[in-house]
Amino acid sequence: MTTTSTPPRKRLFIRTWGCQMNVYDSARMADVLAPIGYAPAETPDGADMVILNTCHIREKATEKLFSELGRLREAKALKRAAGGEMVLAVAGCVAQAEGKEITARAPWVDIVLGPQTYHKLPEMVARASRAAGAVIECEFPAEDKFDHLPDAAAPQGVTAFLTVQEGCDKFCSFCVVPYTRGAEFSRPAAGVLAEARRLVASGAREVSLLGQNVNAYHGEGPDGRSWGLGRLLRALAEIPGLLRLRYTTSHPRDVDDDLVAAHRDLPQLMPFLHLPVQSGSDRVLAAMNRGHTAADFLRVVDRLREARPDLAFSSDFIAGHPGETAAEFEQTMALVRRVGFAQAYSFKYSSRPGTPAAGAPHQVPEAEKDARLQALQALLRDQQDAFNRSRVGMTFPVLFTGPGRHAGQVAGRTPWLQPLHLTGPLSLVGREAPVTVLAALPNSLSGLLAAGSGAHNVQPAEEPAPA
Ligand code: 5AD
Ligand code: SF4
Repeated sequence: MTTTSTPPRKRLFIRTWGCQMNVYDSARMADVLAPIGYAPAETPDGADMVILNTCHIREKATEKLFSELGRLREAKALKRAAGGEMVLAVAGCVAQAEGKEITARAPWVDIVLGPQTYHKLPEMVARASRAAGAVIECEFPAEDKFDHLPDAAAPQGVTAFLTVQEGCDKFCSFCVVPYTRGAEFSRPAAGVLAEARRLVASGAREVSLLGQNVNAYHGEGPDGRSWGLGRLLRALAEIPGLLRLRYTTSHPRDVDDDLVAAHRDLPQLMPFLHLPVQSGSDRVLAAMNRGHTAADFLRVVDRLREARPDLAFSSDFIAGHPGETAAEFEQTMALVRRVGFAQAYSFKYSSRPGTPAAGAPHQVPEAEKDARLQALQALLRDQQDAFNRSRVGMTFPVLFTGPGRHAGQVAGRTPWLQPLHLTGPLSLVGREAPVTVLAALPNSLSGLLAAGSGAHNVQPAEEPAPA
C-alpha cells in the first residue's frame, strides 16, 4: 500500500512471549535487521519476515508455538501466491531447547536461532534464501554477542530496558534457564554505560537493567577490576538526565553489602525490588536447590528495608513443587504474611523436560496444585490491594511516560512501578513531577499534580470507565 517515493521497505513482524529479556532481545533483532531494509510491521499478514521470540519457562510454550506456526504456514502460502516470500524464524528459549523438533514438525520454518546468536540474523536471512532446509543456529558461542549488535536504532521511550547479564549457573531444580540461556555472562561495564548514555540521549529517563540473575553481575570495569551490580549502579547514577534505575531479576543469594548500600545511597535507585523466593519451606527450598533458607531470605529483606525504609518487594512463588506437603505450602503462606508483598507472580509447578524436578518422585496432584495456587494468589492479591491503598493521600514523584487511556489524561509510573494517571498536560511526558494519590483503582492509581509541580489549571483525574 506504499505510495511514497521512498524505496519499499521489507516488513518485519516480531511476536514476543515471556520475560522482559525477550522484549529487549526482540528490539535488538529489529535493530540488527534494520540496515538490511526491514521495518517493523503491526501484523504478520503479508509481512516479509516473521520472528516468533519464544519462552520455555512454563509448559504450553511448545503447543502455543506450533499452533502459531500452523497459522503462519497459511500466511506464508498466501504471500507466495501473491509473488512474495515470507521468511519465518523461531527465536528464543524454545528454539534453543527444541531446535530440531521445530524443523521436523514445521519444515516451513526457515530459521531457528537461540538467544546467543541474534547478531548473526542478517547472515542467516541471506543463507535462508539459498538453503534448501532451515538454517539453525543454537550455539552458545564464547564471543560476546553484545560486541556484534549494533547500537539501538529504534527510538526509545521514557522507560527503557538494558541487558547487563545473561544466563544462569544456579540450576534450580525446576528451571530451564541454565539450559536455554547458558552459563552466566556479564557485559563489561563500559558497554553498559555507553548504552545507557545513548538511551538517555534518545529520551529515556528510567533504565531497567535486565539479567536472568542480574545481581550476580560481575562485569569488567573500566578500571580493569570486576564490578558488582552495586558498583555499576553507582556509575549509572552519575549519568545526567537518568532519573530512575531499576534492575530485575535478582537472586536472594547475590544481594551483597555493596548492593544494599546502593539502595541506601542512590536516590535514583527506585524503592521496588523483584526478589524471587519461590517457597517458604526450607525443605522445599533445598529440594529446589535454591541455596538459601526462608530465614536467609527474610534477613535479606530486613537488611534492604533497613537501608531503604520505603522499599517494597515483589517476588515469584511456585506452588506444588514435587514433594511439597500441605504443611510446607503453609510455610510459604506464612512467609508471605511476614514480608507483605507489594506485588507478586505465582505459578503452579510445571514439569519441564530435562530439569531435575521433572523426574522427581511425589509429583503433587493437579487439583492440589490448583487449590494451593488459588489460596496463595488470594493472599498476594489482598497484599497488593493493601499496598496500593496505602499510597492514597501520599505525595511522591511520578515519571510520566505517555498519554493516558482517556482524553486529557497523562500516564506514568510511581516509584513502586504502579501505573498512575491524572488529568494533565502531555508536556509532562518525560518529566518527573510530584503527585498526590487520590484513589487506588483495581490496576492503577489516580492522582493530582501536587502544588509547586509547575503544571497549571489541573483538574482532579476522572476514574477510567470500567474495562
Ligand atoms: N514451573 C513453575 N514455575 C516456574 N518458574 C520457572 N520454572 C518454573 C516451572 N518449571 C517460575 C519461577 C521463576 C519465574 C520466572 O518462573 O518462579 O522465578
Ligand atoms: Fe532459573 Fe532463576 Fe534458578 Fe537461575 S536462579 S535456575 S534463572 S529460577
